[in-house]
Amino acid sequence: MTRTQSRYVCQACGDSFLRWEGQCRSCSAWNTLVETLVREASPAAHRRVAPAASTGPVPLADLTEADVERIPVGIGELDRVLGGGLVPGSLVLVGGEPGIGKSTLLLQAAAGLSAAGPILYATGEESSAQVRLRAARLGLLGSPAAAAVTVFAESSVARILETARAARPVALVVDSIQTATVDELEGPAGSVGQVRESALRYMELAKGDGIAVLLVGHVTKEGSLAGPKTLEHLVDAVLSVEGDRSGGLRLVRATKNRFGSTEEVGVLEMGEAGLREVPDPARAFLVEHDADAPGSVVGATLEGSRALLVEVQALVAPTGYGTPRRTAIGLDPGRLALLVAVLARRAGIGLGSHDVYANLAGGLAADDPGLDLAVAIALASTFRDRPVAAGTVAIAEIGLLGELRSVAGLERRLREAARLGFTRALVPPGRGDPPAIPGIAVVTVRTVREALEVALGPAGG
Ligand code: TYD
Ligand code: MG
Repeated sequence: MTRTQSRYVCQACGDSFLRWEGQCRSCSAWNTLVETLVREASPAAHRRVAPAASTGPVPLADLTEADVERIPVGIGELDRVLGGGLVPGSLVLVGGEPGIGKSTLLLQAAAGLSAAGPILYATGEESSAQVRLRAARLGLLGSPAAAAVTVFAESSVARILETARAARPVALVVDSIQTATVDELEGPAGSVGQVRESALRYMELAKGDGIAVLLVGHVTKEGSLAGPKTLEHLVDAVLSVEGDRSGGLRLVRATKNRFGSTEEVGVLEMGEAGLREVPDPARAFLVEHDADAPGSVVGATLEGSRALLVEVQALVAPTGYGTPRRTAIGLDPGRLALLVAVLARRAGIGLGSHDVYANLAGGLAADDPGLDLAVAIALASTFRDRPVAAGTVAIAEIGLLGELRSVAGLERRLREAARLGFTRALVPPGRGDPPAIPGIAVVTVRTVREALEVALGPAGG
């Protein structure tokens, strides 16, 4: 039995309440409750869908290593993030800021997937003419994909589902979940009620009909997907497309993946003809500039099983008046504040009356503590206006006492650094000797003060 009821759904966290209130009791956001008609106890929405053909209980010892079937997307970096390809019947949410390249990525993915069978590309964001323009730019017109990908400019979930059930594509792309509308529900497209119900219906299609569904979701300014609580637990995988829109590099990261590791990232570059793979992702975030620029230090971060070398850039300047600014781009602001404090107390680098800016080059965002040392040296380097010798890479976490702490995957980071031509690495003390890697001199340093001496020379002078 389907009963329709009025509920007040918080547009920030997705929780629903019987009465309107000014503040959401779940997430404390103000003025986010919107009246929404919801189907209560709807058999369709709450039907449990078995993740795979259920065979009843099986002893652990008898479980076979059944390979999950996968359809290659044809974009190596995307396949990597998905765990080897798209799993038939899976529901994948692809999130990212507007303009970051989600539609481009998914049209390219649709073309790649079409080698395995027909693809339905439903767009409520753009007209068919706009999709055709993009396809032309991507060089897809005239390719076999142009015949295998069907474009449907539609936002009604019912009509898209009906078309998908009739056409039986291998995969359905829905661009975007924020334009999807379920006729029976009140509330505008993009409201939490609509987004959640639409996603549930697409899940039924995915699980019930074995059609992989890729949903595009725009990220709001606060950085969360609309109806985040309700969508993220529902889908099999959440991919996020990140990067600096003014630059070309894009990272595709799995923040959830039932069919693979959540740690892998893919690196792509937006060019004139869409997204393409970069030849050597490990060096993609190193910028080309004159060596010996004060304030620039290379660090190595670990993203899943992949080490990426990245340039940390810092600038400090005396504060005119008022409170000094601390600006972190691609780095955690709290972490930056901590490093500024540690430098002041443990290394005599007082930045209390300086504005401090620090960022990762190439639009990379990382919260890897292994970048601490690179950030600290970059700050000291700009403060003393002394460059770090080219070919140096710094890898360590910094503790509150100014001590350097070991990081995960040190050897992998060092190997990548050596492969890319770095000749000297500053690393924290570990158990036993530091890894010996041909081509790179590994220097163990114990404190941030010691690291600054090695990297910049003795203080003063
Ligand atoms: P788009 O995929 O429309 O982003 P989203 O769907 O996430 O909003 O990408 C938009 C940007 O990408 C736009 O600024 C134009 C740029 N772009 C290129 O640089 N090269 C290309 O080949 C394409 C198709 C887009
Ligand atoms: Mg788009």
